[in-house]
Amino acid sequence: MKNTLIIGGAGFIGSRYMNDFGTKDVTVFDSLSPIVHNRKSIADFVSLGVDFVPGDVSQPDDVRALFENGVPENLILLAAETGTGRSLHNCALNTRINAMGTALVLDTLSGMGVLPKRIVLTSSRAVYGEGPFRSASGETVYPEQRDEADLKAGKFEFEALEPLAMSAAAHLPNPSNIYGATKLCQENLVRNWARSFGVSAYVLRLQNVYGAGQSLTNPYTGVLIHFLRNLSRKEPVKIYEQGGITRDFVHVADIASAINLALTGNAPAGTYDIGSGERLTLEAVAREICVLTGGPEPEFCDLYRLGDVRHAAADIGRARAVLGYEPKVSLQEGLGGLIKFFEA
Ligand SMILES: NC(=O)c1ccc[n+]([C@@H]2O[C@H](COP(=O)([O-])OP(=O)(O)OC[C@H]3O[C@@H](n4cnc5c(N)ncnc54)[C@H](O)[C@@H]3O)[C@@H](O)[C@H]2O)c1
Repeated sequence: MKNTLIIGGAGFIGSRYMNDFGTKDVTVFDSLSPIVHNRKSIADFVSLGVDFVPGDVSQPDDVRALFENGVPENLILLAAETGTGRSLHNCALNTRINAMGTALVLDTLSGMGVLPKRIVLTSSRAVYGEGPFRSASGETVYPEQRDEADLKAGKFEFEALEPLAMSAAAHLPNPSNIYGATKLCQENLVRNWARSFGVSAYVLRLQNVYGAGQSLTNPYTGVLIHFLRNLSRKEPVKIYEQGGITRDFVHVADIASAINLALTGNAPAGTYDIGSGERLTLEAVAREICVLTGGPEPEFCDLYRLGDVRHAAADIGRARAVLGYEPKVSLQEGLGGLIKFFEA
């Protein structure tokens, strides 16, 4: 076992972390979930110098066997069932991988009595659900998941409410889909376990991560890949909810650097919001992609996806001040790289 173990390290974020910070001190444990990896094999990672242990984080025997080789100083927990829409019909699977898988890792470690010094968990903005809003009277309010009857009627916006940037220090989590519920459970398990055993836990609540290397085969994640797929078929991008959904798109290189800061820096353990700090409508992002690709104008429609939230953006003030995090990749630069990757 090397110094740093990445559980779920073969995916989008783990691969970028190893690309930017090296594979020398890293062991990867991963099930190579077919929906994410399509044709990738263990040999592809071994050829890059990765110390690869195949296994499923939700299988007790696999997790026990993993730690028989030792316990690392640093643990990065990335393995998860992702995909908001898919999670709605896969409650048990999401709970098994995201919650039970994490619990198994923690139990196995405390059972062995040898503990890592730091754990970095990549959580998600999904734990905020629809998120915090300011009401007309200036209060912070947390609306529940929108009613399907309203969505069907094309009533997408929360009336008289102004969306606020999500901040772990200022706002309460309030997940509005199964994925978000299991990510919050995962956070709570890691935070409470780590506090009890004197392990430093860094919970990074990531916004929408994008960039070269993201899965082209997973149909449930990555709205930008959907846009690019449409454009490659010369079909206009269809934008749900009339294009008014807002997101904070953060480049995967900035996420890799946030993980590295949490692992190697002097910031106190805690929960940090990680994004670009910029709120953009999907309309604006789709238009930018159309300009960069020369694709047809986007089309706006009244379609919606159950479990999707209307607004999301991070308040990255604390990550900046305490963790030393600074997003460096601009949207234009990041989209350019993503388009090249998609075309290749
Ligand atoms: N990409 C984003 O936009 C985003 C946003 C917020 C949070 N996150 C979180 O970041 C983490 C990593 O995301 P990603 O984009 O790299 O996802 P990914 O799907 O590309 O990578 C996840 C990796 O985990 C592996 N995995 C899945 N189930 C497993 C299991 N049962 N046992 C072992 N390995 C398993 C997969 O094979 C894959 O290699 C996830 O926890 C996700 O919830 C991602």
